[in-house]
Amino acid sequence: MKVIVTGTSRGIGAELVKLAKGAGHEVLAVDRKITDVRSPEAAAKIAALAQPWGVVDILVNNAGILRQGTSREDFMESFLVNSVAPFEITQALLPLLKKSSHPRVAQITSMMGSIDDNSSGGYYAYRASKSALNMINKSLTLDNPWLTTMVIHPGWVQTDMGGVNATTPVGESAQGIWQLIEGMEKAQSGSFLDFRAKELPW
Ligand SMILES: NC(=O)c1ccc[n+]([C@@H]2O[C@H](COP(=O)([O-])OP(=O)(O)OC[C@H]3O[C@@H](n4cnc5c(N)ncnc54)[C@H](OP(=O)(O)O)[C@@H]3O)[C@@H](O)[C@H]2O)c1
Repeated sequence: MKVIVTGTSRGIGAELVKLAKGAGHEVLAVDRKITDVRSPEAAAKIAALAQPWGVVDILVNNAGILRQGTSREDFMESFLVNSVAPFEITQALLPLLKKSSHPRVAQITSMMGSIDDNSSGGYYAYRASKSALNMINKSLTLDNPWLTTMVIHPGWVQTDMGGVNATTPVGESAQGIWQLIEGMEKAQSGSFLDFRAKELPW
Protein backbone atom coordinates (compact mmCIF):
# COMPACT_ATOMS: atom_id res chain seq x y z
CA MET A 1 0.00 0.00 0.00
CA LYS A 2 0.94 3.64 -0.41
CA VAL A 3 1.08 5.42 2.92
CA ILE A 4 1.64 9.08 3.88
CA VAL A 5 2.52 10.09 7.43
CA THR A 6 3.17 13.67 8.58
CA GLY A 7 5.40 14.75 11.47
CA THR A 8 7.89 11.94 11.07
CA SER A 9 11.14 13.41 12.42
CA ARG A 10 10.57 11.97 15.92
CA GLY A 11 7.96 10.67 18.33
CA ILE A 12 4.88 8.78 17.23
CA GLY A 13 5.27 9.72 13.55
CA ALA A 14 8.78 8.26 13.34
CA GLU A 15 7.52 4.99 14.89
CA LEU A 16 4.56 4.82 12.51
CA VAL A 17 6.92 5.11 9.54
CA LYS A 18 9.05 2.21 10.88
CA LEU A 19 5.95 0.04 11.33
CA ALA A 20 4.49 0.85 7.92
CA LYS A 21 7.81 0.20 6.17
CA GLY A 22 8.28 -2.97 8.21
CA ALA A 23 4.89 -4.16 6.97
CA GLY A 24 6.15 -3.72 3.40
CA HIS A 25 4.31 -0.54 2.48
CA GLU A 26 5.70 2.36 0.49
CA VAL A 27 5.83 5.39 2.76
CA LEU A 28 6.04 9.10 2.07
CA ALA A 29 7.36 10.42 5.39
CA VAL A 30 6.57 14.11 5.57
CA ASP A 31 8.96 15.85 7.92
CA ARG A 32 9.69 19.54 8.18
CA LYS A 33 12.57 19.17 5.69
CA ILE A 34 9.99 18.21 3.06
CA THR A 35 7.48 20.84 4.09
CA ASP A 36 6.39 22.78 7.11
CA VAL A 37 2.72 21.86 7.41
CA ARG A 38 1.97 25.50 8.32
CA SER A 39 2.93 26.59 4.82
CA PRO A 40 0.04 27.51 2.51
CA GLU A 41 1.77 25.35 -0.12
CA ALA A 42 2.23 22.28 2.09
CA ALA A 43 -0.88 20.36 1.04
CA ALA A 44 -0.26 20.88 -2.67
CA LYS A 45 3.39 19.92 -2.24
CA ILE A 46 2.48 16.65 -0.49
CA ALA A 47 -0.08 15.85 -3.19
CA ALA A 48 2.52 16.57 -5.89
CA LEU A 49 5.04 14.25 -4.19
CA ALA A 50 2.45 11.46 -4.06
CA GLN A 51 1.24 12.03 -7.62
CA PRO A 52 3.72 9.55 -9.22
CA TRP A 53 2.14 6.77 -7.12
CA GLY A 54 -1.23 7.49 -8.76
CA VAL A 55 -2.96 6.41 -5.54
CA VAL A 56 -2.82 6.92 -1.78
CA ASP A 57 -4.23 4.17 0.44
CA ILE A 58 -3.53 5.56 3.91
CA LEU A 59 -2.99 9.12 5.16
CA VAL A 60 -1.97 9.71 8.77
CA ASN A 61 -2.11 13.36 9.85
CA ASN A 62 0.18 13.10 12.87
CA ALA A 63 2.21 16.36 12.96
CA GLY A 64 1.12 18.35 15.98
CA ILE A 65 2.19 20.92 18.55
CA LEU A 66 1.23 21.50 22.16
CA ARG A 67 1.34 25.10 23.31
CA GLN A 68 0.32 25.88 26.85
CA GLY A 69 0.22 29.65 26.32
CA THR A 70 -2.97 31.56 25.63
CA SER A 71 -1.71 34.35 23.40
CA ARG A 72 -3.35 34.96 20.04
CA GLU A 73 -0.20 33.53 18.45
CA ASP A 74 -0.46 30.35 20.55
CA PHE A 75 -4.02 29.88 19.32
CA MET A 76 -3.25 30.63 15.68
CA GLU A 77 -0.20 28.36 15.57
CA SER A 78 -2.08 25.53 17.28
CA PHE A 79 -4.99 25.79 14.89
CA LEU A 80 -2.70 26.04 11.88
CA VAL A 81 -0.73 22.88 12.71
CA ASN A 82 -3.35 20.78 14.52
CA SER A 83 -6.55 21.62 12.63
CA VAL A 84 -6.08 23.56 9.37
CA ALA A 85 -3.10 21.59 8.03
CA PRO A 86 -4.75 18.16 8.49
CA PHE A 87 -7.85 19.54 6.73
CA GLU A 88 -5.90 20.98 3.81
CA ILE A 89 -3.70 17.90 3.44
CA THR A 90 -6.70 15.56 3.47
CA GLN A 91 -8.54 17.74 0.93
CA ALA A 92 -5.54 17.89 -1.39
CA LEU A 93 -5.15 14.10 -1.29
CA LEU A 94 -8.81 13.21 -1.91
CA PRO A 95 -8.31 12.60 -5.66
CA LEU A 96 -5.46 10.14 -4.96
CA LEU A 97 -7.28 8.53 -2.03
CA LYS A 98 -10.28 8.01 -4.32
CA LYS A 99 -8.12 5.77 -6.51
CA SER A 100 -7.64 3.31 -3.63
CA SER A 101 -9.87 0.27 -3.12
CA HIS A 102 -9.92 0.99 0.65
CA PRO A 103 -8.85 4.58 1.31
CA ARG A 104 -8.21 5.44 4.96
CA VAL A 105 -7.45 8.67 6.80
CA ALA A 106 -6.31 8.71 10.44
CA GLN A 107 -6.17 12.04 12.26
CA ILE A 108 -3.98 11.86 15.36
CA THR A 109 -6.06 13.83 17.82
CA SER A 110 -5.97 13.93 21.61
CA MET A 111 -8.25 13.03 24.47
CA MET A 112 -7.63 16.67 25.42
CA GLY A 113 -9.85 17.60 22.49
CA SER A 114 -12.78 15.81 24.11
CA ILE A 115 -15.25 18.30 25.60
CA ASP A 116 -17.00 15.53 27.55
CA ASP A 117 -13.72 14.40 29.10
CA ASN A 118 -12.43 17.86 30.09
CA SER A 119 -12.44 17.80 33.86
CA SER A 120 -9.25 19.76 34.54
CA GLY A 121 -9.41 22.86 32.30
CA GLY A 122 -6.43 24.71 30.88
CA TYR A 123 -4.60 23.99 27.62
CA TYR A 124 -7.02 26.30 25.78
CA ALA A 125 -5.25 26.44 22.43
CA TYR A 126 -4.32 22.76 22.30
CA ARG A 127 -7.70 21.47 23.47
CA ALA A 128 -9.62 23.73 21.09
CA SER A 129 -7.42 22.85 18.11
CA LYS A 130 -7.92 19.12 18.68
CA SER A 131 -11.69 19.57 19.18
CA ALA A 132 -11.65 21.43 15.86
CA LEU A 133 -9.75 18.57 14.25
CA ASN A 134 -12.39 16.14 15.53
CA MET A 135 -15.16 18.28 14.04
CA ILE A 136 -13.29 18.70 10.76
CA ASN A 137 -12.93 14.94 10.48
CA LYS A 138 -16.64 14.48 11.10
CA SER A 139 -17.48 16.74 8.16
CA LEU A 140 -14.85 15.09 5.96
CA THR A 141 -16.45 11.74 6.79
CA LEU A 142 -19.95 12.93 5.89
CA ASP A 143 -18.84 14.73 2.74
CA ASN A 144 -16.76 11.79 1.46
CA PRO A 145 -18.78 8.66 2.22
CA TRP A 146 -16.37 6.54 0.12
CA LEU A 147 -13.58 7.30 2.62
CA THR A 148 -12.87 5.52 5.92
CA THR A 149 -11.72 7.94 8.60
CA MET A 150 -10.91 7.97 12.29
CA VAL A 151 -9.67 10.36 14.93
CA ILE A 152 -7.23 8.47 17.14
CA HIS A 153 -5.95 9.40 20.60
CA PRO A 154 -2.45 7.91 20.96
CA GLY A 155 -2.47 7.68 24.77
CA TRP A 156 -0.15 9.69 27.00
CA VAL A 157 3.02 8.87 25.15
CA GLN A 158 6.71 9.02 26.07
CA THR A 159 7.76 11.55 23.42
CA ASP A 160 9.06 15.11 23.55
CA MET A 161 5.45 16.23 23.71
CA GLY A 162 4.26 13.69 26.28
CA GLY A 163 7.25 14.23 28.57
CA VAL A 164 9.06 11.96 30.99
CA ASN A 165 6.02 11.14 33.16
CA ALA A 166 3.99 9.80 30.25
CA THR A 167 2.65 6.30 30.75
CA THR A 168 2.79 4.76 27.27
CA PRO A 169 6.01 3.81 25.47
CA VAL A 170 6.05 5.31 21.99
CA GLY A 171 6.43 1.88 20.35
CA GLU A 172 3.31 0.59 22.12
CA SER A 173 1.26 3.62 21.10
CA ALA A 174 2.39 3.45 17.47
CA GLN A 175 1.77 -0.30 17.32
CA GLY A 176 -1.80 0.22 18.56
CA ILE A 177 -2.42 3.07 16.13
CA TRP A 178 -1.03 1.08 13.20
CA GLN A 179 -3.17 -1.96 14.06
CA LEU A 180 -6.24 0.27 14.21
CA ILE A 181 -5.44 1.79 10.83
CA GLU A 182 -4.78 -1.59 9.20
CA GLY A 183 -8.03 -2.96 10.60
CA MET A 184 -10.17 0.13 9.92
CA GLU A 185 -13.51 -0.91 8.47
CA LYS A 186 -15.99 1.24 6.59
CA ALA A 187 -18.60 0.78 9.33
CA GLN A 188 -16.24 2.43 11.86
CA SER A 189 -15.72 5.54 9.74
CA GLY A 190 -15.79 8.76 11.75
CA SER A 191 -15.03 7.06 15.08
CA PHE A 192 -13.06 8.60 17.95
CA LEU A 193 -10.90 5.81 19.40
CA ASP A 194 -7.80 5.49 21.51
CA PHE A 195 -4.76 3.47 20.47
CA ARG A 196 -6.23 0.43 22.24
CA ALA A 197 -9.41 0.69 20.10
CA LYS A 198 -11.51 1.99 22.99
CA GLU A 199 -14.31 4.33 21.90
CA LEU A 200 -13.95 7.79 23.45
CA PRO A 201 -16.52 10.43 24.38
CA TRP A 202 -16.69 13.55 22.18
N1 LIG B 1 2.65 12.50 23.23
C1 LIG B 1 1.43 12.49 23.74
O1 LIG B 1 1.22 12.16 24.94
C2 LIG B 1 0.24 12.82 22.88
C3 LIG B 1 -1.04 12.75 23.45
C4 LIG B 1 -2.15 13.05 22.68
C5 LIG B 1 -1.99 13.39 21.34
N2 LIG B 1 -0.73 13.46 20.80
C6 LIG B 1 -0.63 13.82 19.38
O2 LIG B 1 0.18 12.89 18.70
C7 LIG B 1 0.83 13.52 17.58
C8 LIG B 1 2.33 13.22 17.64
O3 LIG B 1 2.82 13.69 18.88
P1 LIG B 1 4.24 13.29 19.49
O4 LIG B 1 4.02 12.97 20.90
O5 LIG B 1 4.95 12.33 18.60
O6 LIG B 1 4.93 14.75 19.43
P2 LIG B 1 6.44 15.19 19.22
O7 LIG B 1 7.36 14.16 19.76
O8 LIG B 1 6.50 16.58 19.76
O9 LIG B 1 6.59 15.21 17.62
C9 LIG B 1 5.81 16.10 16.88
C10 LIG B 1 6.10 15.87 15.41
O10 LIG B 1 5.32 16.80 14.65
C11 LIG B 1 6.19 17.52 13.80
N3 LIG B 1 5.72 18.88 13.52
C12 LIG B 1 5.27 19.80 14.41
N4 LIG B 1 5.00 20.94 13.78
C13 LIG B 1 5.28 20.73 12.47
C14 LIG B 1 5.21 21.53 11.29
N5 LIG B 1 4.81 22.81 11.37
N6 LIG B 1 5.56 21.00 10.11
C15 LIG B 1 5.99 19.72 10.03
N7 LIG B 1 6.09 18.90 11.09
C16 LIG B 1 5.73 19.41 12.28
C17 LIG B 1 7.51 17.56 14.54
O11 LIG B 1 8.55 17.90 13.64
P3 LIG B 1 9.90 18.71 14.12
O12 LIG B 1 10.82 17.68 14.73
O13 LIG B 1 10.42 19.28 12.85
O14 LIG B 1 9.44 19.75 15.10
C18 LIG B 1 7.57 16.14 15.07
O15 LIG B 1 7.99 15.24 14.07
C19 LIG B 1 0.50 15.01 17.70
O16 LIG B 1 -0.55 15.32 16.83
C20 LIG B 1 0.06 15.16 19.13
O17 LIG B 1 -0.81 16.24 19.34
C21 LIG B 1 0.38 13.18 21.54
